[in-house]
Amino acid sequence: MSDIRDDARRGFAETFGHEASGVWSAPGRVNLIGEHTDYNLGFVLPLAINRRTVVALGLREDRVLRVASAFADEVAEIPLAQLVPGELEGWAAYPLGVAWALSQHGADLAAVPGVDLFIDSDVPVGAGLSSSAAIESAVALALNDVWRLGLDRRTLARVGQLAENEAVGAPTGIMDQSASLLGETDAAVFLDCRTLDSQVVDLGLEAAGLAILIIDTGVSHSHATGGYGARRASCEKGAQMLGVESLRDLTVDDLERARTLLDDETFRRVRHVVTENQRVLDTVRTLREQGPEAIGELLDASHASMRDDFEISVPELDLAVETAGANGALGARMTGGGFGGAAIALAPTHAISRLQVAIDGAFAEHGFGQPEMFVVTASHGAVRE
Ligand code: GLA
Repeated sequence: MSDIRDDARRGFAETFGHEASGVWSAPGRVNLIGEHTDYNLGFVLPLAINRRTVVALGLREDRVLRVASAFADEVAEIPLAQLVPGELEGWAAYPLGVAWALSQHGADLAAVPGVDLFIDSDVPVGAGLSSSAAIESAVALALNDVWRLGLDRRTLARVGQLAENEAVGAPTGIMDQSASLLGETDAAVFLDCRTLDSQVVDLGLEAAGLAILIIDTGVSHSHATGGYGARRASCEKGAQMLGVESLRDLTVDDLERARTLLDDETFRRVRHVVTENQRVLDTVRTLREQGPEAIGELLDASHASMRDDFEISVPELDLAVETAGANGALGARMTGGGFGGAAIALAPTHAISRLQVAIDGAFAEHGFGQPEMFVVTASHGAVRE
């Protein structure tokens, strides 16, 4: 960690020719359970992970924003007065989109000073670990501090989501930014996406001798195009046909009626969301009453629901999950938006290397590219370093 922090300071000085006045960081996240429930105003249970994005920042005398990063050559530069979401392109749309989104939550862009930002990160990009939310959360916290906006973390999560929706163009929910801003060490964040009330739920993984293995399939996905938006639209259609504001308003008992009113595909989309909300509640209760050893079946059931009802898995994710289950994992599921990205496996720490060998072997046998695998721990949310 101290490494990327130093790298970001150095990158800042080399790019802008003066020292940064401060450094902020925010983690990526992995979702333990509760997929495609956030924009349906339901429940999620993600954790912040021990991979972070760091922002080094310096104030300017004029009213210009400049952003640079360790992963792109160009420096993007824009006067604060010209920040419009549709005009922002490439990776710089994330940090610049956040500056614009803050203006929609009270920041007066005509009054705040310009800033230089340099971004570095060890959150893998495209693995479904929310590298984008890590950028948004770190930048939102940094600008909130130096512009003295006084916004709380829930509002900053909304700011990050707005940037993602409007500046990047991905119609995503509130989960990723909330996890990045509210996460705590050794715990998951139980979030009600309607009220944004959150509770910290202890995971106790180390004490139970368990670990979470990320299996990044390398299959790339984008939520700005394709299936993600289509699933969101199906959920909205289902809610409308059933006469509720959102699918959050339904419980498992409503499914029988839903089956008679909806076409088969919409019904299965709705069933995923309704049962997934229940699985989040069950997972929270099980963690509190019995500990992490007891949640494996819920993870497996979540995967089956995404594979069969929501249809957002891909063969690589299914293979990772099946192979994990057959080689000592207590439970496994794809995580994140789907159509690629990563799966997680909850397994005894002593079984992790066996699992990795088995998954590598299975991927090779099926002619799939070699997956990246690593263990993550639950870490603290965004901070000023
Ligand atoms: C992506 C989105 C989140 C959420 C998940 C699915 O990660 O960014 O808002 O919808 O997919 O649970």
